Amino acid sequence: MRIIFVGPPGVGKGTQAQRLVAYLGIPHLSTGEMLRQAMEEGTEVGRLSQAHIQSGKLVPDEIVLRIMDERLDQPDCRRGYLLDGFPRTIKQATALDEFLAARQTPLCGALELKVDEDQLVARLASRGRTDDEPEIIRERLRHYGAQTSPLLDYYRRRGLLHEINGMGTQDEVFERIQRVLSTIGAKK
Ligand code: AP5
Ligand code: MG
Repeated sequence: MRIIFVGPPGVGKGTQAQRLVAYLGIPHLSTGEMLRQAMEEGTEVGRLSQAHIQSGKLVPDEIVLRIMDERLDQPDCRRGYLLDGFPRTIKQATALDEFLAARQTPLCGALELKVDEDQLVARLASRGRTDDEPEIIRERLRHYGAQTSPLLDYYRRRGLLHEINGMGTQDEVFERIQRVLSTIGAKK
């Protein structure tokens, strides 16, 4: 089972992905978390990513693809994975497609979480990660619109996109996700 979560900052990708890990029994791969960990550990990837993340810009594709190529070939990914925050550009999506085609492991679906913009800002403001300052949030939203939202059509054209209303409680959103997953044969 290979699933992608797409959606703007603060929409609930990480929150719902964590719940799905237990439900589907596959690993949750968040490029944001991997990059933050690399920054904490002071690795080369962390040093190269830091300024981009802290200003709300995307980390260059080459860096993200380098860590994902390695991660997706780990043994725990054999039964599938849930991608959160990757791919985030058309270049990353085409690289992922090539990776999947080479291994004959097609994508099962791309789930788009949607919430109103004022709700996004409210959710992020109450969390308080270092890139959750209002000005950085605006920059992240801008990059989502310019660089990531074209992926919605990319997956829609392939019949893989499923839109999910992300408003309401975490339980309500999780139920909607479960319903969509059951339609694509991805239930427990
Ligand atoms: P990343 O870590 O992926 O951040 P993001 O996409 O901006 O999204 P967030 O993690 O902020 O939001 P989320 O949708 O996961 O929401 P969450 O569940 O936390 O990326 C960070 C940075 O890394 C990027 O800006 C970029 O620089 C870099 N990066 C990462 N991947 C990259 C890539 N592929 N290419 C290039 N650069 C990359 O929820 C948010 C808050 O809302 C939480 O407090 C949560 O408790 C709350 N919440 C969740 N659901 C609900 C609900 N239903 N009701 C009320 N509150 C809720
Ligand atoms: Mg997240």
